Amino acid sequence: MKYRNPFKPTAGKMPPVLVGRDKVINDFIEGLENGEGAPGRLMRITGPRGSGKTVLLSELASIAGEQGWLVVNVSASGDLLESIRKKLLKVAALEPNTIKVGVGSVTVEASRATSDSEDFETVFERKAREMTSRGKGLLVTMDEVQDASRNDVREIATAVQFLIREDQNIALVFAGITTGVLDLLNGKAMTFLRRAKPEELDAIPIDEVSDSLRTAVEESGFSIEDAALERAASATAGYAYLIQLVGYHIWRAAWLRCRERSDGGIVISSVDAEKGIGEAMEEFKEAVLETAIAGLPRTAVEFALAMSEAPGRVVSTSDIAARLGKSTGYLSPYRRQLIARQIIEQTAPGYVTFSIPFMREFLVERRGEILARYGG
Ligand SMILES: Nc1ncnc2c1ncn2[C@@H]1O[C@H](COP(=O)(O)OP(=O)(O)O)[C@@H](O)[C@H]1O
Ligand SMILES: [Mg+2]
Repeated sequence: MKYRNPFKPTAGKMPPVLVGRDKVINDFIEGLENGEGAPGRLMRITGPRGSGKTVLLSELASIAGEQGWLVVNVSASGDLLESIRKKLLKVAALEPNTIKVGVGSVTVEASRATSDSEDFETVFERKAREMTSRGKGLLVTMDEVQDASRNDVREIATAVQFLIREDQNIALVFAGITTGVLDLLNGKAMTFLRRAKPEELDAIPIDEVSDSLRTAVEESGFSIEDAALERAASATAGYAYLIQLVGYHIWRAAWLRCRERSDGGIVISSVDAEKGIGEAMEEFKEAVLETAIAGLPRTAVEFALAMSEAPGRVVSTSDIAARLGKSTGYLSPYRRQLIARQIIEQTAPGYVTFSIPFMREFLVERRGEILARYGG
């Protein structure tokens, strides 16, 4: 019998079960249905790397798509306005309705030529109006918005705000790293976006994780012992990426142990769970935690190490300065660098916390080894 590992420990890949997102999804559906200007139509999704932002955006996009909305997904690394404009023009060209309008190739080409010269605002408004007149709407999703050009974001926000005021069916969902997004929203002329419904992707309740692991395991044709399930669920700490990583490795451990058997019915045991969790955590450390701190200057690493030794989840920068015997001013560029690398974030002026789960434990565990890289 052939089995397939259902878990997807890969950025942006849709998991077998989308855990803990019912509320956001319902808010969004409600927004689509409740008409122009409903709160769910303007939403911001924030959370650390691996918390499930990209996957959630895809889910919302496909829900809107199923309801007949035109959806444009962009990631903020490139030229946002141009990329939205291009995508809108492309769907316009592909749409049977649009093509039917111009009978004969001459007309089609003529209409294309005019639309090619249309700027972002014109295309954007035209498409939103077109969709609204058909009783549908236009959804734009923006990922990694913390890296976006402020001007582009402002221009998109202005266009959306204008269309809402005109009672057009428009929705905007943007996602990014929590602190980066808050920074963006605190910038000049971002008032409109600050109204976006906040959805912070923090830890998913363990009982929901547990249910989802069981469902995914059983749908794959395996089953799992209760004790193994409990251990696995709690090892994920409710962190989306770890749900996939742990699920993947416990499933694999059982498969490796049993695949030679022909009688079917593979059961994930506690031994498989322990083995899988160990492998998942190792992979997490190497792929996420090591990568995050790799190549940092010594002082930045010392800053993070000092944070890991302070009591409490939130640490004051003056405490860190005292631990290192340096001034907060001297440390400030290193703090900024750690924030930019998404290792830590500021919770309030003068206070920081780790943004990646298990970073603190990792630094405590590997302190000596990490310092040795800098000559001890
Ligand atoms: N709600 C969820 N339930 C289970 N797994 C999830 C969920 N959201 C995301 N994942 C998994 O977590 C990993 C990271 O998801 P991704 O959307 O890329 O995170 P982010 O964009 O926040 O970095 C992927 O392997 C994905 O399959
Ligand atoms: Mg992402």
